[in-house]
Amino acid sequence: MKKILFSILFLGAWQWSVAQENAATDNAPECVMLTISGNPATHRAVSWRTEVGDTVSLAELVQLRPSPDLAEHAKRVQGNHALWEDGAPDYKMGHKVNFTELLPDTWYAYRVGNGEQWSEWFQFKTASNETKPFSFLYFGDIQNDIKSLGARTLRQAYSHFPDAAFMLFAGDLVGRSERHYWDEFFYAGGWIFGTMPSMPVAGNHEYYPNGDEKRPFSKHWNQIYTMPDNAPNEIYRNRMYYVDYQGVRFVAVDAVNMKDEEDGEMITGWLESVLRSNPCKWCVVFFHYPVYSCSQGRNSESYRNTVKPILEKYGVDLVLQGHDHTYCRGFAMEHVSKDCKNPPMYVVSVGGPKMYGLNVDFWSDRMASDTQLYQHVLIDGDVLSFQTFDVTGKLYDAFKLVKRPGQPNLFIEDESLRFIKMRTSIPESAKKKYTPEDLERYYQRFPE
Ligand SMILES: [Fe+2]
Repeated sequence: MKKILFSILFLGAWQWSVAQENAATDNAPECVMLTISGNPATHRAVSWRTEVGDTVSLAELVQLRPSPDLAEHAKRVQGNHALWEDGAPDYKMGHKVNFTELLPDTWYAYRVGNGEQWSEWFQFKTASNETKPFSFLYFGDIQNDIKSLGARTLRQAYSHFPDAAFMLFAGDLVGRSERHYWDEFFYAGGWIFGTMPSMPVAGNHEYYPNGDEKRPFSKHWNQIYTMPDNAPNEIYRNRMYYVDYQGVRFVAVDAVNMKDEEDGEMITGWLESVLRSNPCKWCVVFFHYPVYSCSQGRNSESYRNTVKPILEKYGVDLVLQGHDHTYCRGFAMEHVSKDCKNPPMYVVSVGGPKMYGLNVDFWSDRMASDTQLYQHVLIDGDVLSFQTFDVTGKLYDAFKLVKRPGQPNLFIEDESLRFIKMRTSIPESAKKKYTPEDLERYYQRFPE
């Protein structure tokens, strides 16, 4: 009898302890996202989410050390919380914390939680205050089938270049700003998002459709991303910003509501002022809509007429874009205005699996269709080295831009491209967008 009673008590205690453990796991921080939230040498922000009842937002931060005694040496930083999905009080709690006054060029470890339940420790390095070589990753739209097929792009790129300073996203990170899309996005990026900071700009799919009217913005974005506080106004906070990273000015432009007269003037005015005041040797501008369309049936003439003169006036070095689900790279030299002192290099790319067909305008020098890609860009003094890889890790495109005093950047295309065949097949679903004349033109350019 004693034995039976003991067994029952033991079983009860064991079940209680398992339940406690599950409860602890259930409310652990998830979806941890690291961003550059100001001066990249001194500022980082982290967001995460928990169940709604959790209203304690804490981080622990310590200079990186090999000993596992991180918690003993860490300082606590108070964060804040708000509903992760705006307007959904029963779903998830979003948390955010800002790290300020960090030391430049320094490794840190951090974790986030509520004081009882914590994330794992993540590690990151701040930027230098000086101009120094560094590299970054650039992704076109991830957008659809993110878990199934977008994940491999993010993971392959990170595995290939784990020392890149950050991941730049040119919009349409998700197909719609809804829970299940972001859940897939976080599944795909996993702990990488807590380790390598993201630098995103919103695309049309981060907005909700609204006919011809101004589109409402994502219910999640501002809870996920904290970017430098230098947007043209509070509405565009976290969507438009610039970062000066070790001698390069990065400018994020959210042009989705550009057709709105008031927003359009505000966006172009801000872009011009940010380019005019650039103290850096290099300048990279990134936005979602391509200046020159890359996919068949698209031609954003009014957008081009508005943005291109500004990019040319200030001699922007590199323009990174998405939206067209194909790959194009080139100066489009025949369209560059005569008084442009430094023609910008335009790139359109795609990271996820949604594929379109190439535009028969053929403005670019290197193209791809039906191919998931990622880009690695290294800036070292006067040389910018740009490489595009397909998702299998094979080099697809490569060139260098070299700064020259008083002259436009010298362009050097990688010689190995002669041996890398362009992938130009038209996806079945895109064929209906070509007229018979278009198809004839297409096959003249790409006979196979
Ligand atoms: Fe798009």
